[in-house]
Amino acid sequence: MATNLRINGERLWSTLMETAAFGATPKGGIRRLALSDEDRMVRDWFRAACERLGLEVSVDGIGNMFATRAGTDPSARAIAFGSHLDTQPAGGKFDGILGVLAGLEVMATLADAGYETAHPLTLVNWTNEEGARFAPAMMCSGVYAGELDAAPMMAGVDRDGRSFSGELERIGYRGREPVGERRFAAFVELHIEQGPILEMEQKTIGVVTGGQGLLWFDGTITGRDSHAGTTPMPLRRDAMAALAEVALAIEGIARAHGPAGVGTMGEAHVLPGSRNTIPGGATFKAEFRHPDGAELTAMEAELAARVAAIAAQRGVTIDVRRIWRKDPITFDAAVVDAVRGAAAKSGFPSREMISGAGHDAFYVAGTCPTGMIFIPCWEGISHNEEESATEGDCSAGAQVLLDAVLTLDSRAA
Ligand code: HGY
Ligand code: MN
Ligand code: MN
Repeated sequence: MATNLRINGERLWSTLMETAAFGATPKGGIRRLALSDEDRMVRDWFRAACERLGLEVSVDGIGNMFATRAGTDPSARAIAFGSHLDTQPAGGKFDGILGVLAGLEVMATLADAGYETAHPLTLVNWTNEEGARFAPAMMCSGVYAGELDAAPMMAGVDRDGRSFSGELERIGYRGREPVGERRFAAFVELHIEQGPILEMEQKTIGVVTGGQGLLWFDGTITGRDSHAGTTPMPLRRDAMAALAEVALAIEGIARAHGPAGVGTMGEAHVLPGSRNTIPGGATFKAEFRHPDGAELTAMEAELAARVAAIAAQRGVTIDVRRIWRKDPITFDAAVVDAVRGAAAKSGFPSREMISGAGHDAFYVAGTCPTGMIFIPCWEGISHNEEESATEGDCSAGAQVLLDAVLTLDSRAA
């Protein structure tokens, strides 16, 4: 049903800037780790903003937040939209929260107009999308979708030994709603692209058709601490030198499976951590991504072979443990079509693309017809305190979200 409802871009922008205070860093970024005090503050703000709009807010047993606006057909499943409020340790003002606040703007626009949808509408904040404090990423949409078990996630601990369940309890967001009980008619997520394509091509809207697969693994290297001055080079079992070779192996395998394949060692620690002790221990966290699941499997096998060779050559042991795999996904054609039509109606230049970044929509896609909308971000930079997007592009994304939701609503429940 074509409507001329227009979102209020200024109002959306003001909520983005207001919420940027929760976890603001001196460099203008955001540190709002999942289940931190900053996460609690932004959740409290979000709940109050939803309640001011008359939305009914419910929280499930793993902290996912659902804010629902009634439709005229109470028998219809809700059409949902949203994203996440947590950030990377040195994140930006838009990753995740744009999708949540654009959804809030959609709800406010409908309320202002007194517009009634047939379907109920539900705005979602998915807990712990980033996986930075508690692995893996997209954790609580994964538990909601039934693809990740709740128990091991709740038992997970951060680097300070604090458990997920303890922190969820501490911030007061362990809700009573059974996880995964609620199912939607459709789900649409608006997100910054977090890559350079839209900006390079001067496109405003990305019609996202799917997402690449991800593989996360943890590694432990064991050599031998020894004196940096007296140990001859051939006798060393240097965990740091081995770690360096593993990092380069990850990069080399990704390049060999390029241009689509990517690989990163994003975190590493060396022990005991003294300039004049040859390190006997090292741990690392790394990942591969590829749009083709078979390629992802091949990359993992190649790393295993390289690691065995490095270990043998250096006289160290290297243990690599896969902790998470999410296969590539293709979004639902009807939802992608609704997004495509909304983009066309808006008149904003758009292009179809797959997502290089992981998103909660990847898991939700296993439970209901799902799609995504991208807008550009400056130089494609994200997971960086300099991450930024323009007010105009954020407004464009929210407008396309509104029109896509109304298109889905006009279809049979
Ligand atoms: O890692 C990701 O792709 C997402 O930004 N958490
Ligand atoms: Mn995100
Ligand atoms: Mn992210």
